[in-house]
Amino acid sequence: MKPSARSPIGVFDSGLGGLTVLKALARRMPEESLVYFGDTAHVPYGTKSPEAIARYSTQVARFLAGRGIKLLVVACNTSSAWALPAIRRAAKVPVIGVVEPGARAALAAAPSGRVGVIGTEATVASRAYPKALARLKRGVRVESRACPLFVPLVEEGWWSGPVAAAVARRYAAPLRKAGVKAVILGCTHYPYLKGVLARALGRGVRLIDSAEETAAETERALARRGLRAPMGRRGRREFYASDAPERFRRLGARMLGRAPEKVKLKVLDD
Ligand code: DGL
Repeated sequence: MKPSARSPIGVFDSGLGGLTVLKALARRMPEESLVYFGDTAHVPYGTKSPEAIARYSTQVARFLAGRGIKLLVVACNTSSAWALPAIRRAAKVPVIGVVEPGARAALAAAPSGRVGVIGTEATVASRAYPKALARLKRGVRVESRACPLFVPLVEEGWWSGPVAAAVARRYAAPLRKAGVKAVILGCTHYPYLKGVLARALGRGVRLIDSAEETAAETERALARRGLRAPMGRRGRREFYASDAPERFRRLGARMLGRAPEKVKLKVLDD
């Protein structure tokens, strides 16, 4: 069946972190129905090979396409960096990744073109952000840093306090030295660390939350295609996890501010 304006938006992440994007979408467009898939059987993607990232991502894209989505948001930076073309082929609906919106917002905040990027090892290794930034502006100077300790810190709920602050200071040091004016939070989990990151980076450095930018881009993409849901009703929310749905529900409650009503288990074939 052809998707219509009433069809849901698919949101995909390697795990829980993409709930930051789901939240941003729900805030901006409460009338839209959202179906979220967390690939908890395979998380983290950030330490996997490009082949594995593309394989897992396309399985999820096919599953969500089968749920009749009208558009797919790839909330995961690692998937957006490595697997967008493969996801587009599998999804057969418009696909929005987080890299382009993040890069555009960073340049708007730092017109000088001195931008920092933080993300998983795989995202930093892909150079997807520096390439997107260079396409948008000549002569950009990008300082990238993988921050592998941030994902477990966020999942533990250590969003502030001395441990998070010490780790943030350590990761921020080369970015400070490079004199960046904006830092792209190039990973789903990092918006929870905005406070400690802002302090570690010091005044005058703007933090770019790709979740917000991606929600804005999604709204524009739907409007362009005449696919915005009718106003005045609240959209449905549906959650799937490929493993341990109870854990997803428990940790998701912390990240969303309230527990998702139900998280369904959906095992995807390898
Ligand atoms: N969702 C991933 C990202 O945004 C972070 C967690 C992972 O490594 O899978 O890059």
